[in-house]
Order: sequence, then structure tokens, then C-alpha cells
Amino acid sequence: MPLICLGLEGTAHSFGAGVVSGEGRVLSNCWDMVSPQEGGIHPREASRHHSDMGPDIIKKALTEAGVAFRDIHLIAFSRGPGLGPCLRATATMARSLALKLGVPLVGVNHCVAHIEIGCLESGFRDPVTVYVSGGNTQVIAFAGNRFRTFGETLDIAIGNMLDVLGRIVGMRFPAGPGIEKEAEKGENYHSLPYSVKGMDVSYSGMLTAARRLYSEGVALSDLCYSVQETAFGMLAEVTERAIAHTKKTEILLTGGVARNKRLGEILTGVANRHGAAFHTVSPPLAGDQGAMIAWTGILQHSAGDKLDVADSHVRPKWRTDEQDITWRASS
Ligand code: ATP
Ligand code: FE2
Repeated sequence: MPLICLGLEGTAHSFGAGVVSGEGRVLSNCWDMVSPQEGGIHPREASRHHSDMGPDIIKKALTEAGVAFRDIHLIAFSRGPGLGPCLRATATMARSLALKLGVPLVGVNHCVAHIEIGCLESGFRDPVTVYVSGGNTQVIAFAGNRFRTFGETLDIAIGNMLDVLGRIVGMRFPAGPGIEKEAEKGENYHSLPYSVKGMDVSYSGMLTAARRLYSEGVALSDLCYSVQETAFGMLAEVTERAIAHTKKTEILLTGGVARNKRLGEILTGVANRHGAAFHTVSPPLAGDQGAMIAWTGILQHSAGDKLDVADSHVRPKWRTDEQDITWRASS
């Protein structure tokens, strides 16, 4: 039997368990999300959700994959970055499983996992990655032995901006899909702050201005259209500069906001202008899920990465560029 890894992801509001084989086949990928009645997520409430639901989600992932606990060779978990209580609840499950089954434990950087699952799916070897989600907005490229952040948000993440705007206009969380749907009907562009500073972007001014336009009675469809065009245009500019500077030949779009078709279209334009290949991670692998943790765990394990349970504390502020990428040849 090939190597089988169980990956647990629980950095924020969702808990996921995925089973992946050593040759990169996703055998299962199950998750469940806390949905707050109102307002944002409370970290303790989310961590309780993970501890309560985790065991059932793990069992479901094993059943769907057609494997038993005794078939698991490796346990990978999302070690950071994320909300402390959620990370700890997930790490506790991972440690106890690794000890009980007597198999190695691997701690995975969540952002790196979003990149690696995209490379697995696309076959890309060395892309410029646009990683966009509720908590992160980064343009990343591999250099030396790290995934370097070429540009990022200076304040709030793009997904967070969309979710807060959605809350203001009465949409359900997460609001990204609702905003995308409204934007498709939009026709009139209303000017919003376009804020690119060097390689970095900023979205908080746009959120304030969008709130004002909404209170002035601008049609929701036009507002969503204007927000998407401006926010995605900013990302396109940074991506274009990153691809021109690094001379890489692939662009990968990953993270929950990668589900947005319009963003994919705009970045396809950037790729075409630079003769680069383009791939958007498919919806089931774009957001937070355990398969990306399992696959990255396999890569780390294959490079000899081992984590003692005693040293497996979580890293809530672990940046993408703070991990040596031992499984890739340095460039
Ligand atoms: P991370 O921990 O990596 O920051 P996350 O916890 O935000 O991730 P993801 O599932 O990666 O979780 O991303 C969720 C985000 O994706 C939410 O902000 C949501 O609104 C956004 N999103 C989902 N679908 C769409 C869409 N079609 N268009 C725009 N945004 C979307
Ligand atoms: Fe994520």
C-alpha cells in the first residue's frame, strides 16, 4: 500500500480532515464550518466546534477514502498561522492520533499548503502564486529556499473586506459568493480608492468608501461590480509586476477567493500578456480543507521532516516566508 496521510486543518472557522496518498491522490476531503449567527467568528466558539465535530469528520474522511486507522502512516496538522484556540484544538487531535497509532507527526504551514495543493493539481513547478482568502492576501514566489512574499495587504485581507461589506449590506457569511453574483448584474462603475503601494495593497479605504456609497443609495449590483473590479485590478497590477520581475512562467490562483470567476478572468489576462500558464485551484481545493495539509505533510515527510510531540506547539503568527522549504530544490 502507498503512503497514506491524514491531514487535519483547523486554523479558523472550519475544521477539515483529508486523506491523501503518497503519489498525490486525494482520497477524501471532508469539512464543516462554524456559521456565526451574527458578527464574526469567536475563536473559542470555533475551537469548541472543532473539538466536538473533529472526531466525526475524521471518521467520515477515513470511510470515504476507504481506509482504516491502521492504514494511516502519517498525521499532518495545520500548525499555523491562525487563531490560537482553533490551532490548539486541532493540534491536540493530531498529537493524540499520532501517539495512539504510533505514526509520525508533521506540522504544516497553512499558507504553504494552499500553494502546494495548487501545484499538485496544476502540475506547476514554480509559479507566482496569488493567495487570496479571508485572512490572507499575498503574492508569493519561491526564491532561495523559501516562499517569499512579494506583495501583501497592508491592512485587511481581500476576503475579509468582501465579508464585512457583505455584512453591511445584509448578506450571509461568507459573502464572497453573494458579492460575485451581484457584481455580474452591475453596469455602472463607481470610483473607489485604488490603493497599491509598491508591491503591497490596501483594502480598508475601499471598505469605508463602499460603505459610504451604499448609504448614499448606490445600487448593490453596481457597488459589488465596482468593488470587484477595483480590488481585483489592484491584485492584477502586483501580480504583473511579480511575474515581470521574477521571469517565472506560471501563475497560480489559490485560497477561498480563488473561487471568484471574475478574478480568474482578470489574472488570465495578466498571464496571457506575459506568455505565462495560468491555473485556478478547483473550488473543493481552493478554500480551507485537510487534503492540502495531508499533501504538504507528505512532501515534508519525504524530505525527512519530523516533529516530536513535545515540540509541537502551535504557531499562530507563522508567516509563509518563515519556513525552509526542504522538499524543493532551492533556486
Ligand atoms: P485563510 O486561513 O487561508 O485566510 P480562510 O479561513 O479565509 O482562509 P478560505 O476558505 O480559504 O478560508 O476563504 C474564505 C474566503 O473566501 C471568505 O472570505 C469568502 O467570502 C471568500 N470567497 C468564497 N467564495 C468566493 C467567491 N466566489 N468570490 C469571492 N470570495 C469568495
Ligand atoms: Fe486558508
